[in-house]
Amino acid sequence: MKVVHTVEELRDQLRGQLRIAFVPTMGNLHDGHLALMAMAHQHGDPVVASIFVNRLQFGPNEDFDKYPRTLADDIAKLQAQNKVYVLFAPNEQELYPEPQNYRVQPPQDLGDILEGEFRPGFFVGVTTVVLKLFSCVQPRVAVFGKKDYQQLMIVRNMCRQFALPTEIVPHETVRDADGLALSSRNRYLSEAERREAPRLYRLLQQVRERLHRGEADVARIEHDAQRELTAAGWKVDYLSVRRQRDLKAPTHDEVVARLPLVVLAAAKLGTTRLIDNLEI
Ligand code: PAJ
Repeated sequence: MKVVHTVEELRDQLRGQLRIAFVPTMGNLHDGHLALMAMAHQHGDPVVASIFVNRLQFGPNEDFDKYPRTLADDIAKLQAQNKVYVLFAPNEQELYPEPQNYRVQPPQDLGDILEGEFRPGFFVGVTTVVLKLFSCVQPRVAVFGKKDYQQLMIVRNMCRQFALPTEIVPHETVRDADGLALSSRNRYLSEAERREAPRLYRLLQQVRERLHRGEADVARIEHDAQRELTAAGWKVDYLSVRRQRDLKAPTHDEVVARLPLVVLAAAKLGTTRLIDNLEI
């Protein structure tokens, strides 16, 4: 694997490649990220990964400064896995040599709901850096995790609207044995919080169960799950059943007709904010 830190070196390495498969990350790699690399390997060649902690997508009170930066470990993991051909790890000066004044603004109805409501500016930061990384790497496919369901939808939407030649391939959420979705932020959890954390996924499964059984009072199902989280000490940002197609709330008739739905949640355990979702 070649590790490059500048756009120029990256371009040198990739000149003439037409089937590049790309996996953008912010590093602190876990098995979820590595699963994306393996999937990229099935969809294109060479595989390019990036590690860049993107300041633009962090709010002023978020964890940009303490976000785990573990480049040497990340490189070792990628080398051991042997699926990635080039790792692009630019520093801030390289990717943003001048203030990034051009932004990609996702449509409000997709970008300002759910995560966008609780993290204003988050998706503008994501789409802006993803477009920039795509322009550096010029991939034919890029793999994104369903763990960040709304991000996946927005990036897809952006590619379609800008007619980018990159196909977005989704990967299922990779979980620990107890159901907790793998995340770089899990390392912030205390031991007690780590034992509590799988409740989020269990509740999403319960929501799915109830809908599968034919219950159609979505507000009540959401309320019950939110209440259980709160009772267990979580601070819930949202737990909401939406249509898979556009993340809008389903009508009663759509629930009864079993339109494809997804339940999405974000909640804080102590100071750690966890997100998860489950398709129904
Ligand atoms: P990061 O959180 O590092 O995630 C990089 C990719 O890995 C994303 O596509 C994310 O959905 C996926 N991923 C993370 N945990 C996963 C899990 N448990 N199962 C499956 N996939 C998982 O998402 C970002 O970085 C950034 O917003 C980025 C797209 C790189 C732009 O800065």
